[in-house]
Amino acid sequence: MTDFPHTPPKQSWTFSNDVNAEIRRAAATGIYDIRGGGSKRRLPHFDDLLFLGASISRYPLEGYREKCATDIWLGTRFAKKPIHLDIPITIAGMSFGALSGPAKEALGRGASEAGTSTTTGDGGMTEEERGHSKTLVYQYLPSRYGMNPDDLRRADAIEVVVGQGAKPGGGGMLLGQKISDRVAMMRNLPKGIDQRSACRHPDWTGPDDLEIKILEIREITEWEKPIYVKVGGARPYYDTALAVKAGADVVVLDGMQGGTAATQDVFIENVGMPILACIPQAVKALQDLGMHRKVQLIVSGGIRTGADVAKAMALGADAVAIGTAALVALGDNDPALEAEYQKLGTTAGAYDDWHEGKDPAGITTQDPDLFKRFDPILGGRRLKNYLKVMTLEAQTIARACGKNHLHNLEPEDLCALTIESAAMAGVPLAGTSWIPGRNGGF
Ligand SMILES: Cc1cc2nc3c(=O)[nH]c(=O)nc-3n(C[C@H](O)[C@H](O)[C@H](O)COP(=O)(O)O)c2cc1C
Repeated sequence: MTDFPHTPPKQSWTFSNDVNAEIRRAAATGIYDIRGGGSKRRLPHFDDLLFLGASISRYPLEGYREKCATDIWLGTRFAKKPIHLDIPITIAGMSFGALSGPAKEALGRGASEAGTSTTTGDGGMTEEERGHSKTLVYQYLPSRYGMNPDDLRRADAIEVVVGQGAKPGGGGMLLGQKISDRVAMMRNLPKGIDQRSACRHPDWTGPDDLEIKILEIREITEWEKPIYVKVGGARPYYDTALAVKAGADVVVLDGMQGGTAATQDVFIENVGMPILACIPQAVKALQDLGMHRKVQLIVSGGIRTGADVAKAMALGADAVAIGTAALVALGDNDPALEAEYQKLGTTAGAYDDWHEGKDPAGITTQDPDLFKRFDPILGGRRLKNYLKVMTLEAQTIARACGKNHLHNLEPEDLCALTIESAAMAGVPLAGTSWIPGRNGGF
């Protein structure tokens, strides 16, 4: 018999090793995969945009001599006491339950030193974050876990959470391992039992109810505090327009790269839109209503660098929020802890089992032995440094585009590297004047 040459064995793209491993895992356990973090697939993102610096047709600002301002006002529409921040990078809402008390303290310390705000999350307001945050946004969530009208009054702004980018249309999860005595007490629920947060507000059947809700909160807080409305990136044009109609001072828009403490992997990877596609739609809604810059837009979902901040602002956002990057700055997923990540069956950089409460960095845990490892003063200092670097990076880019305030960045300063990103962001493909899909609307 002759031995015929064979083509080398080929992995299937459709049934890749990863896909097959997940099929086997599902077959062995009968349960779906839950994890933290945001989408891990490659999505069109800020990396696919570039700035066009100034040369002859535009005039740059001198980096070391000419100022580029970074401050921002939030809540100028109705609130008697709008918020003023030194930088347009805020800390996103992350629940106490997902995060340890010392992690909350570190976020407050770092953000306050950098001149920005932090946000509570599901499960209520902790003394650690109120005590250490100069400006604290209090989340009002569908679950109402830890909701307290006195805390509404102790906050500097209120964020009505309708949804999150990691799971638009879905509720939260906090597994029993993380329900310590303190978390159970704050949420008024039993210890050690898995908790699901509702996916919509109990007294909410549509946008009109949102208007009533916002009015109620304004009255409780005597019209002083800015009211934000947070939505996951699903139908940003209409969601933004409806949030504005309902009376929001600020719209918070979270794209599908946005992190979460815990939800189904299938949800994270298959529901929602990349933030790049969301921002122009939200900006268009604000412009159509004559509300751009009057109702501020905060965007989030995979923001990592000053370049990301500058790109989001050039597309029309007033500010950004960061979650995952803030945790990494505090010390999460640090390769120095690799041996411990290996023991958990994972590796630094891929560690996303935040729901299990075994975080060796002491950040996403309620285990006192673990969270005692985390130093909130050092963590806060790291976060402050990171926020400072991002701000300097954004300023450097803005000056090179000839702007004396980050807010003066505009879509005209950008070009896109791919057809997809050009179509989504609404900026021309590099070297052309072509914006795919922009022949009269979205
Ligand atoms: C650990 C963790 C906990 C979170 N908890 C909440 C929460 O309680 N409420 C909420 O609205 N969003 C929550 N989020 C989502 C963030 O507010 C934000 O939308 C998201 O992290 C932004 O994307 P980024 O992580 O890529 O920066 C959480 C995110 C993380 C990483």
